[in-house]
Amino acid sequence: MPGDPVEVVTGDAALTDQYAGLVPACLVLVCGVFGNMTDDDVRRTIGYCTQLCAHGGTVVWTRGRWEPDLVPQICNWFADRCFELGWVSDPAEGWGAGAHRFTAAPVPLERGARMFTFVGHHPRTGPDRDRSLTDLHPERTGGPPRRQPNRPAEPRTDRPGRPADG
Ligand SMILES: C[S@@+](CC[C@H](N)C(=O)[O-])C[C@H]1O[C@@H](n2cnc3c(N)ncnc32)[C@H](O)[C@@H]1O
Repeated sequence: MPGDPVEVVTGDAALTDQYAGLVPACLVLVCGVFGNMTDDDVRRTIGYCTQLCAHGGTVVWTRGRWEPDLVPQICNWFADRCFELGWVSDPAEGWGAGAHRFTAAPVPLERGARMFTFVGHHPRTGPDRDRSLTDLHPERTGGPPRRQPNRPAEPRTDRPGRPADG
């Protein structure tokens, strides 16, 4: 809100604990990271966006369009998690960015989880697409969060009014 102080957290952005007390947020920026992780971690991190983003909130993300271009798949993964596309950059631009709006109720924050491992990227070929995650972080087990967000109740048709937007 205008006039509210801005709180800056300096820490490992991959750890869900860093977001405790700050989410779900109206605006989630996942910029400069999807191009530095395996495809599986991109999917996994999109899964965690259901915990970071408020109902009706927006995730703004970026991703280089190294071949094979992951941007269409990123849009599919967001759709699978109840995010609707607001905008995505034209492939002809050469760079990838998008905005997705969350249409479901957020899932409570899972504490103590690592969402991704930052592996960096080669400027021409992009990140290592499928390096074994357990090679990078042997302590990591399991996959992306399984719990699906709750879809909000359908708006009632028997009386005027808006659907709940909390
Ligand atoms: C490609 S740059 C993007 C910078 C900026 N977000 C942007 O979009 O222009 C990625 C940045 O993320 C930082 N980074 C990598 N892993 C991180 C982590 N786990 N937590 C916080 N920052 C991280 C890197 O040091 C680097 O500065």
